[in-house]
Amino acid sequence: METTLVLLKPDTIQRGLIGQIVSRFENKGLKIVGMKMMLLSDEIVSEHYDFLADKPFFPGIKAYMTSAPVVAMAISGSNVIKTVRNLTGATNPAEALPGSIRGDFALTIDANIIHASDSAETAAVELKRFFKDGEITSYEKISDKIVG
Ligand code: CMP
Repeated sequence: METTLVLLKPDTIQRGLIGQIVSRFENKGLKIVGMKMMLLSDEIVSEHYDFLADKPFFPGIKAYMTSAPVVAMAISGSNVIKTVRNLTGATNPAEALPGSIRGDFALTIDANIIHASDSAETAAVELKRFFKDGEITSYEKISDKIVG
């Protein structure tokens, strides 16, 4: 069973979309195993997006990601990394298909409302970045037997 990291970004919180987006994951049958609201520091945003540090839009990402809290989620399920990326849709909302989260709720790449880990290796690093030991739970969900 895989676990992935999802961040609901500040525009999700500002627009009152937390519930609708969390529902997408619950409706799919995935299991939420960790969830918390956090105001991110410059340091954690710089670490999370270090591969974009030399891009001209990097200062904008930092300002955006620290402008209001995010909701960090740890989500488990069979093939969860690929499944969550599919539910999330293309990074640029202009290219995200209708029915995907970005396709339905976002318009521009600089406010694309959600982040999801792109591989098992990235998920392991990103989960450790946002969750301390003991903050990710392990439990049996009755629906695991039906959907999982
Ligand atoms: P995310 O899935 O969190 O991963 C990298 C982030 O960088 C991406 O979502 C966008 O928020 C941001 N990003 C990528 N390309 C651009 C761009 N051209 N302009 C602004 N932000 C970008």
